Amino acid sequence: MSHSDLSKSVNELIESHGVPRREVYLDHENSGMVFPEALEAMVGAYKSSGRGHPSISHLIGWVSYQSLYEATERVASAINCSPEELVYTHSGSEANNLAIMGSIGVSPNRKKIVVSSIEHLSVMFPVEKFRKYGYKVVKIPVNEEGFIDLDILSRNVDGETLMVSVASVNHEIGTIQDMKAIVDIVRDKDEGILIHTDACDALGKVPLDMKKLDVDLASFSSHKVYGPKGVGVLYVKDGVKLEPILYGQVSTQKLWPGVENVPAIIGFSKAVDMMYTNFSEFTSRMANLRDRLISGVLSNVEHTLLNGPRGNLRAPDNVNISFLYCEGEALTVELSMNGIYVSSGSACTSRILEPSHILLAIGRRYEEAHGSLLMKTSPFHTVDDIEYVLEVLPKAVGRIRSLSPIRHHMR
Ligand SMILES: Cc1ncc(COP(=O)(O)O)c(C=O)c1O
Repeated sequence: MSHSDLSKSVNELIESHGVPRREVYLDHENSGMVFPEALEAMVGAYKSSGRGHPSISHLIGWVSYQSLYEATERVASAINCSPEELVYTHSGSEANNLAIMGSIGVSPNRKKIVVSSIEHLSVMFPVEKFRKYGYKVVKIPVNEEGFIDLDILSRNVDGETLMVSVASVNHEIGTIQDMKAIVDIVRDKDEGILIHTDACDALGKVPLDMKKLDVDLASFSSHKVYGPKGVGVLYVKDGVKLEPILYGQVSTQKLWPGVENVPAIIGFSKAVDMMYTNFSEFTSRMANLRDRLISGVLSNVEHTLLNGPRGNLRAPDNVNISFLYCEGEALTVELSMNGIYVSSGSACTSRILEPSHILLAIGRRYEEAHGSLLMKTSPFHTVDDIEYVLEVLPKAVGRIRSLSPIRHHMR
């Protein structure tokens, strides 16, 4: 389908949708609301301090450089690292790509990459690409809650290993990995192995201290902390060498060419600041709403399964539930008609309509993975929002099930 055909049909969808009586946005996996404070900081920056090129020698350039540096200091202080250890990209996906592809150029003799079987596609795809060039890729299995098998990890890490990459928090099922145990195992085997963590879903949701975490590389994404889209960051520990993967005119950073999006970075830094300044209040609010939503759905809708762990081992915002005998995409549309915005499966996989590799890795069957909904609470939500979802969702599931030919299999 061409872009113009697609645009026409999207237009028809928007027109036929109508205006819902109430809206609850729970699709923070794909893209989120932005803190008003972050937006205000960005608008201010576009008007003044951020409009210049931060590496050009005139007053506007210097002011832009100064505000970029102050923003970076804010982010660095929230996660306890130095501003010099942060490299801006334009997304979390780019940060993951830089971490993986940039380290291959530095240690071409190490030919093994070890990842968990539930990594984000922006880790999985670059890693798969290197299989073609003779690299061995080992995917470590996880248990039914998404925790990596530490014995299998230990058995697969050796002197040949270039990198171990495990996400601190899984974006789909919310599993908070024991990163200390993972880092200890890898460091015990060989000090030369690079440890990367995709921390896009950890930032702002769990305490992060880069010194204590002791990884070499960590990726972050602005829109996952209610900052603007289009900013990613790679933490590169002091002394760790990476090769650039893009080339061109460099600005203030050697590893990523092009001019930095200073206003967006300022918005991102404000969002990080908001998350960590209000950490206890925000995380406990998100977790309360998460638990209310999980228990409300599991007790009121039959044939449902929670994906991922419970309690403190789960990200405070993450709700992922499989609705058996129900098509996740159809349910997403039905909920949208009622002003409730969620995603079915993961962001990336929902677009290609493949079941999530993460749900399959934790042992869900194909149809259980297909009938899953991913919802993320946020500091913006209220109890009333969740009550509205709990009022609408069971009816929506009932309606989709009543239209489905597989309803005859329900007991
Ligand atoms: C764990 C994880 N890694 C990477 C990404 C990619 O980040 P971005 O959307 O900024 O490319 C996401 C985004 O949803 C994510 O959740």
